[in-house]
Amino acid sequence: MTHASAAQIMRELLEGPVARPALLRWRRQQFLAKEGFGFYFGVFESFAAAREWLPPNPGFNHDTLATEYVEVRTRQVFTYDYPMMWWLDRAFRHGAASVLDIGGSVGVHYHAYRSYIDMPSALTWRIVEVPAMVAIGRRLAAERGAMALSFTDDLEEGLTSAGADIWISSGTLHYMEDARPSDLLKRCLEAPMHILLNKLPLYEGDDFVTTQNISEGCFAPMHVFNRDRLIRSIEALGYHLRDRWAVHERALYLPGYPERSFPSFTGLYFAAESQSAAPLAGVSAHPKEIEMPHERCTECIEACSDCAVRWHR
Ligand SMILES: C[S@@+](CC[C@H](N)C(=O)[O-])C[C@H]1O[C@@H](n2cnc3c(N)ncnc32)[C@H](O)[C@@H]1O
Repeated sequence: MTHASAAQIMRELLEGPVARPALLRWRRQQFLAKEGFGFYFGVFESFAAAREWLPPNPGFNHDTLATEYVEVRTRQVFTYDYPMMWWLDRAFRHGAASVLDIGGSVGVHYHAYRSYIDMPSALTWRIVEVPAMVAIGRRLAAERGAMALSFTDDLEEGLTSAGADIWISSGTLHYMEDARPSDLLKRCLEAPMHILLNKLPLYEGDDFVTTQNISEGCFAPMHVFNRDRLIRSIEALGYHLRDRWAVHERALYLPGYPERSFPSFTGLYFAAESQSAAPLAGVSAHPKEIEMPHERCTECIEACSDCAVRWHR
């Protein structure tokens, strides 16, 4: 018998009807303890039901959670950051100059990506975060002279103030009660040209709510989304899925629910179909159209492989 099949048989026994109640009791205890950092537990009707079940805690709004972000993640990129940097770099090279970063922590993506890609000199990079991260992020930006960075703890303000050419959100939207990307697009004042979503828990089954131990005695309710429906809901608003990658560093094992467990998270890149997405104020549908005509774009009606914009003659 191979190791893989032995492990599978063991798991099926544990998740089966006889052992399942004991498995859930054991995993629940583990989840609530310090050692449960990163673990997931339970299926809930709603965020409210999940919060009621969780011990009282501040969620993400807790200074101590910033330590690793300040010390490590502002300086280091991970494998799953490379597709993000690749598409960001292309967008910047084709004229994008403003970013809305939902859940960008203390500015981790801005600080870390800066060492790898050139950013426009007039760049504005606005982060929507919880108040604790906003305060620490602002201090860090001042210390490191990161003039492009600004912060808000008000999502609606982020969505309805000056439009951004690029939205990025990494490992975050699922923790927000009411922030499906398609809902955010409907609520914003000006739609972005580019949307980069990373580290999302997407799978083939139905949407559900679970909880995660996020360390330091903090816990968060979170959504798990059906992948195809989430993609289609964004495409229905005039976007074209240009890239999709598996995030192998994140997996979801939900004790007692093997059918809701999956081995990797997902990253997605969407570009606006230039004819259907609302153009940004003050920014032409294709910023390079006038300054630097792009041969491949003007000669085809397909999406341009360099700038992701669909052109029609
Ligand atoms: C797992 S961390 C990801 C941080 C960073 N984007 C990354 O990829 O490393 C999730 C982030 O979402 C933020 N977050 C959670 N709920 C939020 C909310 N309601 N509004 C704004 N930010 C939120 C947290 O503070 C945290 O920084």
